[in-house]
Amino acid sequence: MRSPWIIGVSGASGTPYPRAVIGALLDAGEAVDLVISRAARLTLLDETGASVRDAHWKDDVAAWLGRDLGDADLAYWPAGDLAAGPSSGSYPAKGMVVVPASTAACAGIAIGLSKDLLQRAAEVTLKERRRTVIVPRETPVTRSHLEHLIALHDAGAVVLPASPGFYGSGAGATAQQLIDFVAGKVLDALAVPHELFTRWRGELGGGQRSPLGGP
Ligand SMILES: Cc1cc2nc3c(=O)[nH]c(=O)nc-3n(C[C@H](O)[C@H](O)[C@H](O)COP(=O)(O)O)c2cc1C
Repeated sequence: MRSPWIIGVSGASGTPYPRAVIGALLDAGEAVDLVISRAARLTLLDETGASVRDAHWKDDVAAWLGRDLGDADLAYWPAGDLAAGPSSGSYPAKGMVVVPASTAACAGIAIGLSKDLLQRAAEVTLKERRRTVIVPRETPVTRSHLEHLIALHDAGAVVLPASPGFYGSGAGATAQQLIDFVAGKVLDALAVPHELFTRWRGELGGGQRSPLGGP
């Protein structure tokens, strides 16, 4: 039985993150179901120039991801399709990642608004106690943003801010290395193996431990 990860892309800045997450999941042989909110079409257009049209999703998503989807186990559900498979707990999804997660998506999922398929699928994933990862992208944040994130945490989600670390790649890290750091943390949360970043090995500065004192 096909058991995909649902990837929900909402309308926060940060479209390179889902691009990296989807690519790494497909590289790992995982099945992926993609849901792109209406607002995310605007961020995609703004940040990449890519339009995603429901009727031409395969060509459009292939262009966005920069890969041939010929053999990829990738399905696409229009965000307005509330009768789609992922809107039901009986759909055999492994779990879901909302990346990036807008403050609106965080609020909607936290209060069970289900205003579109992305929010409904996330709510279903939480109620079924399946792995749910929420990657918020906003700064600074209000009290209400924080309260919604606490509600999501309490409902069982992993709240994983789009907050790249510079260890591993150093202060001269490229944008792609910082993107891959966040994507790698998402795959860690899903327990899917990846090689998106160099893991911390307890060695400062690439292997040189500083003594406590001395010249
Ligand atoms: C170019 C652009 C960038 C945006 N960036 C963010 C952002 O970083 N974080 C956020 O929470 N909302 C951001 N928004 C606002 C959301 O798109 C808006 O709240 C929208 O209603 C979210 O809807 P959705 O959660 O259904 O995708 C941005 C909007 C645009 C047009």
